[in-house]
Amino acid sequence: MRAPQKDRLLLLLGVLVLAGCGGKQDTLHPASKQEHAISELWWVMLTGAAIGFGVVVFLLLLGWLRRNRPNLPFGLGERAAAGVVVGMGVAVPIVVLSLLFVWSDVYVIKTTEPPRASSTSLTVEVIGHQWFWEIRYPDAGAVTANELHIPVHTRVNVVGTTADVIHSFWVPELNRKIDLIPGRKNRVLLDADRTGTFLGQCAEFCGLQHAHMAVLVFVQTKRAFRAWLANMARPARPPTTPEERQGLRVFLDAACSGCHQIRGTDAHGQVGPDLTHLATRTSLAAGAIPEEDLGRWIRDPQHFKPGNKMPSLPLPESDFRALDAYLESLK
Ligand code: CUA
Repeated sequence: MRAPQKDRLLLLLGVLVLAGCGGKQDTLHPASKQEHAISELWWVMLTGAAIGFGVVVFLLLLGWLRRNRPNLPFGLGERAAAGVVVGMGVAVPIVVLSLLFVWSDVYVIKTTEPPRASSTSLTVEVIGHQWFWEIRYPDAGAVTANELHIPVHTRVNVVGTTADVIHSFWVPELNRKIDLIPGRKNRVLLDADRTGTFLGQCAEFCGLQHAHMAVLVFVQTKRAFRAWLANMARPARPPTTPEERQGLRVFLDAACSGCHQIRGTDAHGQVGPDLTHLATRTSLAAGAIPEEDLGRWIRDPQHFKPGNKMPSLPLPESDFRALDAYLESLK
């Protein structure tokens, strides 16, 4: 390998290693009891691996030294040297691996126990789609997409499934991942111990836009959450200006309403995200673009997220402007 190539490879490896730490998705910055257990296990595993690595390096060094200077090191005789090799090469790995095995089992049992409805105070359904997250609050009758709100210090039972292929729901700072599998319901407990915004990601390859399938989790105070949920449960606010009214007409007459639902109107489509309170969200298209880009998104969705199911509609500019006004009014 030529030197510049080697440098580039090292740089790439460095970036890949560092990409696992810090940033917005970080298993080592737990925000729940369950994630504390997972990150603790991570450190224990790292320590075990470091001991194993140290032993291997030590034995290699010992072998190399004895080959070059048979009387060294430490004046060890043949039998004593064989003892060191057996002790460190067999006994130490058996002890370390057994401890890690038991330790990880304890943690797996602790963290993978699915929540029971009786032990949780809120149930949220998460349904994976190519490529967005449908989020339902069945008790409140609220539906939203891509942005999951939960109250702090509350045991939330997340029930996950899919409308198409297998996806995987994972919010690294809150708990383990669950696969979203056709015809099955998997559950995971979210029990955040601080407020904040946490970034989750689809963790199972699900097609062209798998990488653009992010989910934002907003952990709010109980009061802020109740206010948010009450608004989500309400039907859409009726249009008030002539432009907004035209926007709703365009939405119903063009193809939009065939795929999207806006509760309280005649739009009942179930293919794309529910848009009843679209303007309260911070991002669009499963985190692919900020909400401020709504106008550009509806004019050319395939440009931002190629392969998604939303077609570019050949509408006159005045219709797009009316749609903008109406959709931005959906608070
Ligand atoms: Cu959904 Cu990957």
